Amino acid sequence: MIENLHRWLVVRLLLVWLVLSLAIGGIVHYLGNVRLDDHVVVMAKSETVNYKQAVIEYLQAPSEGALARLNRNVAAHIEHDNLIAVEFYDANSIKITEAVAASARDIEEKLPKHGSEFSDKNGVVCTKMEVNNDTYLRVFVPLTDKSGKKIGYLEGIYHAPSDIIAQIKSQTLWSLVLVVLVVLATSIVLYPLIIRLNRRLVDYSRTLALTNIGMLKVLGSAIAKRDSDTNEHNYRVTLYAVHIGEKLGLTRGAMQGLIKGSFLHDLGKIAIADAILHKPGKLSEEEFSVMKSHVRHGEDIIQGYDWLKDARDVVVCHHEKFDGSGYPVGTSGSVIPLNARIFAVADVFDALTSKRPYKEPFSFAVAVGILQESSGNHFDPEIVRVFLEHVEHLYGEICHGGEDTLHGKLESYIDTYF
Ligand SMILES: [Fe+2]
Repeated sequence: MIENLHRWLVVRLLLVWLVLSLAIGGIVHYLGNVRLDDHVVVMAKSETVNYKQAVIEYLQAPSEGALARLNRNVAAHIEHDNLIAVEFYDANSIKITEAVAASARDIEEKLPKHGSEFSDKNGVVCTKMEVNNDTYLRVFVPLTDKSGKKIGYLEGIYHAPSDIIAQIKSQTLWSLVLVVLVVLATSIVLYPLIIRLNRRLVDYSRTLALTNIGMLKVLGSAIAKRDSDTNEHNYRVTLYAVHIGEKLGLTRGAMQGLIKGSFLHDLGKIAIADAILHKPGKLSEEEFSVMKSHVRHGEDIIQGYDWLKDARDVVVCHHEKFDGSGYPVGTSGSVIPLNARIFAVADVFDALTSKRPYKEPFSFAVAVGILQESSGNHFDPEIVRVFLEHVEHLYGEICHGGEDTLHGKLESYIDTYF
């Protein structure tokens, strides 16, 4: 169980590490890209300022001289700026002049073309492009006069410096590595804490289960004393029922309900008057009617305790018969809960093969014969079939086992299923 827990926890912590690393790493990567874009845009905008003033002077007072000054200014800057190409337009989107750095003519040809879709924008517009693993920005800067009126715009191609790009990418990568390591370290630190907490929880659950099972045994003993019986009947019927349940492949939860129900099946007899419960002779019709009420009394007793709710099927329905002639409801076939159908076979077989104040035990052969005769009317034929396949072995093992032996066998089942 502990090995399974270690494997379970390692797998889940690895999954958590992976998911958190991907999620936080994704955010870091996204923020790194945003930071990179912002940085490049700020640099691109700052370089356009050099040209902005010259072109505004020309647009406010166009002349051959102003254009020549603009061209000289542009030619002086373009060869040593990161702005590798620049074009100037007037308010009607008519190009005034342009310049392309000699080293950038091939690149400029490869960049995506565009129309005049940015000419009516009032703010600075930047679009990012990647060519040959290099980052470029197309920058549109509106040009305005002193009154704020738009008199043209500037379009530039900015080549983002590769050393700065590499530096920012490197910082982002290290941030990613740091995130992955921090999440991994957190998972490693949490591992022993979760194991310790789980051990405490398992111990606590085990103690609680043992307390409940102790209560189950006490109640079972109380019923046995009230019925002038011993614990052995409770042990035997529970062991027979558990064997059938295992052969039928019941789930762990269903087995728990079967064990609890088998132990407490006649709990309601506590509420039946001694005169009826211990009457040596045959019960009258009215007395039998009172006796039958023990299943409802049993239901009333267990329904207040959540841990015993799965015992209800056996406690309430263990006297129902497959053909519908049983009580308290008279349900039939598969409508009767499976645990109750299983228990009915175990209970009757033990009653037949045990000594009672009013009878000697029937022989094994007679008891088996009665089960076979009752298959399909009292009992579910499939359950009788499964039980009879193993009954000889079970009979030898259980019917003549002493209280200590039976208790030991039951303890091993409790260990398995609780
Ligand atoms: Fe009963």
